[in-house]
Amino acid sequence: MEEINILELKHISKEYPGVKALNDVSLEFHRGEVHALMGENGAGKSTLIKTLSGAIMPDGGEIIFEGQSYTHMAPSLSKSLGIEVIYQEFNLMPTLSVAENIFMGEKLGNKTFYDRTKAECEAQKVLDRMHVKLNLKEKVQNLSVANMQLVEIAKALTKEIKILIMDEPTAPLTSDEVEILFAIVKTLKEQGVTIIYISHRINEVFRIADRISILRDGNYIKTVPTTGIDRDELIRLMVGREVSDTYPKRNFAPG
Ligand SMILES: Nc1ncnc2c1ncn2[C@@H]1O[C@H](COP(=O)(O)OP(=O)(O)OP(=O)(O)O)[C@@H](O)[C@H]1O
Ligand SMILES: [Mg+2]
Repeated sequence: MEEINILELKHISKEYPGVKALNDVSLEFHRGEVHALMGENGAGKSTLIKTLSGAIMPDGGEIIFEGQSYTHMAPSLSKSLGIEVIYQEFNLMPTLSVAENIFMGEKLGNKTFYDRTKAECEAQKVLDRMHVKLNLKEKVQNLSVANMQLVEIAKALTKEIKILIMDEPTAPLTSDEVEILFAIVKTLKEQGVTIIYISHRINEVFRIADRISILRDGNYIKTVPTTGIDRDELIRLMVGREVSDTYPKRNFAPG
């Protein structure tokens, strides 16, 4: 029987000069769930993601992936385990086509042996899996930001992916584009992929997340099922005080 947890973080800490970006954070991710990570600016969300992608090395703690313990990741290790991150700054080659970007440096070998027909055929399969349509021959530089993001996701899906991490993916998207992204998230979830979803947008998180974990000032606060929390409580946990205190009225006239 497969473990319910695909990934566990245990006592992860990361300190930068003068700031504890992560302070003894322990957290579990279930296989095939959409798990939102929430917290105010500087809470440690991106630092946690970088720990998982291998971009940074934690000072201490343990990462348990499918029952195997690691003290830290490395980018190649993380990728080989099936962990992919969609960053806001896309890592695409603007003058190459959609198909070429999807398979850049992967599977179909380097440019010298690039087999256009095969690449387009494979790229189409990935896009079909996402239920999206893109012109495979179009240069990436001519795409909208939303479609560039779709190419990034398609790129991630050319590998056998188990965890897809998205850091503020909807920030540059229009509301129609957000719907397309949500449909993809739903499809991937149905295919058993775990989605770790960072967003400040509470409405979105309530729509797509199964569970929400809250970080505050580098500390893990708690994980709750989305159905077990309301907006006010979530905000209260994120900011660490009553919502009515969030923006205290000034009782003095500005000078
Ligand atoms: N490379 C770095 N050097 C020094 N301090 C850093 C570095 N990266 C992050 N920090 C600090 O660590 C803390 C956590 O940052 P992090 O980027 O993880 O927060 P976040 O939750 O992603 O915030 P945001 O919502 O603004 O993206 C912050 O105080 C930040 O200033
Ligand atoms: Mg961040």
